[in-house]
Amino acid sequence: MKNIIISMGGSLVNIHNKEYLENFSKMISSLMKDYHFVIVVGGGKIARDYISIARENGENEFFLDKIGIEITRVNALLLKSFFAGIDGVKFLNSIDEIDNFNVAITGGTHPGHTTDAVALLTAEMLNSKKVINATTVDGIYDRDPKKYKDAKLFENISYTDLLTIFMKNLSSAGPNQVLDFLSIKIAERSNIEIDVINGLDIENFKKAIRGEKFKGTVVKEK
Ligand code: UTP
Repeated sequence: MKNIIISMGGSLVNIHNKEYLENFSKMISSLMKDYHFVIVVGGGKIARDYISIARENGENEFFLDKIGIEITRVNALLLKSFFAGIDGVKFLNSIDEIDNFNVAITGGTHPGHTTDAVALLTAEMLNSKKVINATTVDGIYDRDPKKYKDAKLFENISYTDLLTIFMKNLSSAGPNQVLDFLSIKIAERSNIEIDVINGLDIENFKKAIRGEKFKGTVVKEK
């Protein structure tokens, strides 16, 4: 059965999104007969808030990442709870525990990267050629769509072009902040396509899972 690897932003998986998570878990449950899923959950605002206080207190980056990882795991456990009573859905502490699974839900692993990188590494491990990155914007824009109304959505962008933009914007939050540098490099070295979508649109989400045409950005080789 085909493996679908999803990186779910913490902006989607959190205690304020109960109704959405009910719909999301129903959608995944309805597709469990056709696919196996690995869902890697991010930390979102809660992680940023915790990290910011600990940073003010003087903790080092490694320690701050450890806090972030724990929050991603709490969010992953929260998501798992929306599948209560459904067989074959497991929370994992690490992608190393992935074995026979229908739906494996996990968070961060080690300091120094994000859950997007964990999703890309999972795809490498399972020889999958695609990761769906679900966030709360419609894809990757040339400018921050939350600040600029005329921001342009890329339908397709190559790893090289995205990395070039990334380097240009190192000093400020750039257009591609949806994905971090390491994730793009892992995708590039193993030629893994990243489909960036607005996870709030469940119908569009289904299209991306099924490999149909969807609204969002496809990151791949030229
Ligand atoms: P996220 O994956 O949510 O980071 O993990 P992010 O992409 O910066 O967050 P969003 O997209 O804005 O929601 C939250 C934090 O947890 C730590 C990092 O500090 C990260 O910023 N983390 C996460 C790790 O150190 N390792 C991991 O494997 C995952």
